[in-house]
Amino acid sequence: MTDKPDRAVDPKSKPDDRVDNALRPEKLRDLIGQDQVKENLDILIQAARQREEALDHVLFYGPPGLGKTTLAHILANEMEVNIKVTSGPAIERSGDLAAILTNLRAGDILFIDEIHRLGRAVEEVLYPAMEDFSLDIVIGKGPSARSIRLKLPRFTVVGATTRLALVTAPLRARFGAVYRLDYYDHTAIETILYRAAGMLRVSVEAKGVVEIARRARGTPRVALRLLRRVRDFAQVRGNGIINAGVSREALDLLAVDPLGLDDVDRRVLKAIIEKYGGGPVGLNTIAATISEEADTIMDVVEPYLLQLGFLDRTPQGRVATRSAYEHLALPFKAGNQPKLL
Ligand SMILES: Nc1ncnc2c1ncn2[C@@H]1O[C@H](COP(=O)(O)OP(=O)(O)OP(=O)(O)O)[C@@H](O)[C@H]1O
Ligand SMILES: [Mg+2]
Repeated sequence: MTDKPDRAVDPKSKPDDRVDNALRPEKLRDLIGQDQVKENLDILIQAARQREEALDHVLFYGPPGLGKTTLAHILANEMEVNIKVTSGPAIERSGDLAAILTNLRAGDILFIDEIHRLGRAVEEVLYPAMEDFSLDIVIGKGPSARSIRLKLPRFTVVGATTRLALVTAPLRARFGAVYRLDYYDHTAIETILYRAAGMLRVSVEAKGVVEIARRARGTPRVALRLLRRVRDFAQVRGNGIINAGVSREALDLLAVDPLGLDDVDRRVLKAIIEKYGGGPVGLNTIAATISEEADTIMDVVEPYLLQLGFLDRTPQGRVATRSAYEHLALPFKAGNQPKLL
């Protein structure tokens, strides 16, 4: 593994983060899966390059760990421009944003992670910046205060969010391209695992990879994390080779079940089933019952359970489905669920 100087590695980052960064695909063609998004981005990039213009503003949304940050960096690499990375909560005052904007050069990408967490006042500054590439700043205070309008270079905002619904309509409207990232299929996750195993120089057998991919909940970040843990297990308890048996034992020990559900997922389902008769029950009640953050449940747990068809969302709250009971081997009592609207 070589540390490239252009991908500055934060020395304070945890070893796992460093591995993640090194494994990040750098060009669009290295990105596995997300074929439709990839094709659209390819057109967007080529068109902008042919016209020698900055990219249109791009918004990525979808569950954590599917590649939003990776794609933002890929866009910068493909356009051969600088990328300035920040996040919604990091930009506290409109002055902070003004400082960032005035330091951008033509074509640069401003990546705003968790863009749904931008403050109102900051957003107001962002609107004209994105739309007209201008920045209104107020000089002085009181009656002598006056506002001047600065011209900004044409730059590109790349936004990322796990909660599209929390991005305000005026902000969303300023993105020329909005892409949803979806869970990856098993084949794509397997390919990602082979690529990572190659880069980490771990020996893997096909069945070992299949076993990890099955439990990776369609999420590259989870797949890579499980790969590292299985690698540890293979090294300490085995002969270093990741085969089916090693993968299965390691993942069982981590309490990741064959569908990729972990302890938190199971506690959420069990709370709904055992404490609230299968639901409906509100998200905050579930969170309080199992002492987890409502945000974690909403961003990480719920989207995957919905995708598996273990959970339904109704206006009255969350409901566990029959498949959830079956997966947990709990007796399903017909009739204890309300009729779904
Ligand atoms: N298509 C892919 N191919 C290979 N690796 C990928 C792919 N997508 C993501 N990864 C890897 O998965 C990890 C997580 O990706 P990334 O950080 O881009 O996710 P994210 O969507 O920004 O997540 P979050 O919402 O938590 O910020 C990274 O280490 C990256 O290397
Ligand atoms: Mg990210």
